[in-house]
Amino acid sequence: MGWLFLKVLLVGVTFLGGLYPFVDFSYNGDTRGQKPNFVIILADDMGWGDLGANWAETKDTVHLDQMAAEGMRFVDFHAAASTCSPSRASLLTGRLGLRNGVTHNFAVTSVGGLPLNETTLAEVLQQAGYVTGMIGKWHLGHHGSYHPNFRGFDYYFGIPYSHDMGCTDTPGYNHPPCPACPRDDRPARNLERDCYTDVALPLYENLNIVEQPVNLSSLAQKYAEKATQFIQHASASGRPFLLYMGLSHMHVPLSRTQLSADSQGQRPYGASLREMDSLVGQIKDKVDHTAKENTFLWFTGDNGPWAQKCELAGSVGPFTGSWQVHQGGSPAKQTTWEGGHRVPALAYWPGTVPANVTSTALLSVLDIFPTVVALAGASLPKDRHFDGLDASEVLFGWLQTGHRVLFHPNSGAAGEYGALQTVRLGRYKAFYISGRVNFRSHSPARKPLAPRDWNPECYYEVIGLFRNDHNRTGIMTPRGGKFFF
Ligand SMILES: *[C@@H]1O[C@H](CO)[C@@H](O)[C@H](O)[C@H]1NC(C)=O
Ligand SMILES: *[C@@H]1O[C@H](CO)[C@@H](O)[C@H](O)[C@H]1NC(C)=O
Ligand SMILES: *[C@@H]1O[C@H](CO)[C@@H](O)[C@H](O)[C@H]1NC(C)=O
Repeated sequence: MGWLFLKVLLVGVTFLGGLYPFVDFSYNGDTRGQKPNFVIILADDMGWGDLGANWAETKDTVHLDQMAAEGMRFVDFHAAASTCSPSRASLLTGRLGLRNGVTHNFAVTSVGGLPLNETTLAEVLQQAGYVTGMIGKWHLGHHGSYHPNFRGFDYYFGIPYSHDMGCTDTPGYNHPPCPACPRDDRPARNLERDCYTDVALPLYENLNIVEQPVNLSSLAQKYAEKATQFIQHASASGRPFLLYMGLSHMHVPLSRTQLSADSQGQRPYGASLREMDSLVGQIKDKVDHTAKENTFLWFTGDNGPWAQKCELAGSVGPFTGSWQVHQGGSPAKQTTWEGGHRVPALAYWPGTVPANVTSTALLSVLDIFPTVVALAGASLPKDRHFDGLDASEVLFGWLQTGHRVLFHPNSGAAGEYGALQTVRLGRYKAFYISGRVNFRSHSPARKPLAPRDWNPECYYEVIGLFRNDHNRTGIMTPRGGKFFF
């Protein structure tokens, strides 16, 4: 095997009409031919019911529904945690937060990141001869050695954390609505709580900030351009590639785009969902035109919808958590209720993954790492335990089952962060402790509640088993009550 001549030149060079920093795709080993390419697209805060193929009330995802018809749709697929950073850390390490150390979201001021002794999926694939790119939201620490360029990605284009964690000139829709960044000639106003005004959201290309504040109205288009360029260059190089995309959609603020302006009278959420769908459609088109049949496209989400954002949040489909909601809590993001971590998931690989198939296998974002490593013919690092499994036989249509046991960690609703508070065992699900994330305001002036207003006092000890029957899940309480959600 030859040696990798992998380097990212961090100075932009004029290339393809734009400033596209040159990634050296050359590799003097022979990897042409058999190794598949991988495109992993992770939506943000997307509800299970936001995918039309899952939930007929949703009509805004024609491209994704098409992908479902041409590939495999997973209906019992789970995020590895119910918030951003832990879920992303698990995707890139194949390990739960208790093992990889990421149990909370990183803040704008965080100087750390995903622990440096963790090996990322991108590092494993780089070693196996892949060219690797990350486009979008990183949220695993970006200072110094925590930056994606030092975590296995030859190319990086995106924002370091969520796009509500910094001000922009194009704030979009949010609750509370945030103002544009303060201008030099104007002092910062007495601004709404929950709005960041002291940091303008940066857009990075590799180690350089290329736009600050980022223009949220054109971000999706930039992501589409960079992704198609990356796929183009990587395919032309003859080297296999990994592209990991962390979309801004469906996280708030929802952008005010041309698309939403065109569809006046439509809910901003629906417009934004169509924008995401179109972005995924553009990437799939590019794959179809350059590397079809040798590229595995995996679409999923990082956690359920952010219910506190009311009409700016997505749909949990049938997983309404009626028991939880009756206690005044949200059934979605941050919780281990179904709406919090059961996410849309699609696998598309014409000729390898059967078309128009629905899989009920219990799978997880944790499985992406071992599956991709196996399909790439690489090996897992030997010195650690992985929580995911190699799901390739499920993808090929040879096997119908996934995890027998799958743990869901706490992501802020109850107890210790990262603690394994909920378990799925086949058709059953048990809560050790069930908390709540409030989404009702106690203060009529402000809606919804900010995280610091959440009331941590209401923990319900619900120890019992759920029967999972036709996608309806229920719990049995210690007193024998039965609740379905
Ligand atoms: C990384 O270091 C931490 C702290 O020493 C340790 O707990 C963890 O097990 C290490 N992880 C690996 C993969 O070696
Ligand atoms: C942001 O991008 C949109 C769409 O490309 C453009 O119309 C608008 O002028 C830009 N806004 C700013 C503040 O640059
Ligand atoms: C997909 O499968 C469904 C039901 O099994 C069928 O009604 C539909 O026509 C199929 N679609 C395609 C594109 O094959």
